[in-house]
Amino acid sequence: MTTIVERHKKLERNVTLLGLAAFAAVTVGGIVEIAPLFWIDNTIEKVEGMRPYTPLEQAGRDIYIREGCYNCHSQMIRPFRDEVERYGHYSLAAESMYDHPFQWGSKRTGPDLARVGNRYSDEWHVQHLKDPRSLVPESIMPTYAHLAEHELNAGDMTAELRTLYQVGVPYKPDDIAKANDDLEVQAQADGDATDLKKRYPKAQARDFDGDPKRLTEMDALVAYLQMLGTLVDVNAPAAQETLAKEKGR
Ligand code: HEC
Repeated sequence: MTTIVERHKKLERNVTLLGLAAFAAVTVGGIVEIAPLFWIDNTIEKVEGMRPYTPLEQAGRDIYIREGCYNCHSQMIRPFRDEVERYGHYSLAAESMYDHPFQWGSKRTGPDLARVGNRYSDEWHVQHLKDPRSLVPESIMPTYAHLAEHELNAGDMTAELRTLYQVGVPYKPDDIAKANDDLEVQAQADGDATDLKKRYPKAQARDFDGDPKRLTEMDALVAYLQMLGTLVDVNAPAAQETLAKEKGR
């Protein structure tokens, strides 16, 4: 009587047979894992509230990348209790769907920033960026006072938005055409931002750096920081539904 173990012995001792069987197993597994990706449009569930960044936020994001903030800060709250208690609801895939490049990061010398938006005042951010140790004496964060001195020289934002559009960020023709005006309007203390807010819901428009006469790099960076994590209402029913689906995976 040949038991299953003995039959398997035969397979294991014949290198050609084992090779063929291994190839068959990997092929079937590969098809099952990879093939569906060719038929679905997107692997990320859309979530209510997520929108492309405004030109000012995007310009601030460019400064964030230029200054290397990602060397010390991640932007992804992992679904562990200690992280959720400290930083808030864990990050959803959709919350970084318009990020090019993404800023998840893997190094946390400083805290995660995925939900830092609206947690502090603009004044706090400006003071903290100019001189971190004036607010947090033990901080080892570098000073970024120069951002408040430099005029924001973002270049032509229509070109940047068009480029992002080409890699899949759904800017409308109107958003692209008005990009340079939008950038100015969002950073003004007394600008008319109704049109901007209609196209970019929850956009915050004001003077961010405490210097209403000038549009500085500080304005853009603080506008970006104050938006982080504020777009999706993670406790709304629609987001909860997506969460349940993500958990079920
Ligand atoms: C050398 C590492 C380092 C770099 C680079 C760095 N930070 Fe930090 N950051 C820290 C540390 C450490 C803290 C915690 C202490 C403190 O609040 O200053 C911190 C705190 C913060 C906080 C407060 C977060 C909170 O939840 O309290 C913000 C906002 C912040 N950093 C933004 C930035 C930005 C924007 C940049 C880039 C312009 C940057 N950091 C670059 C190390 C860094």
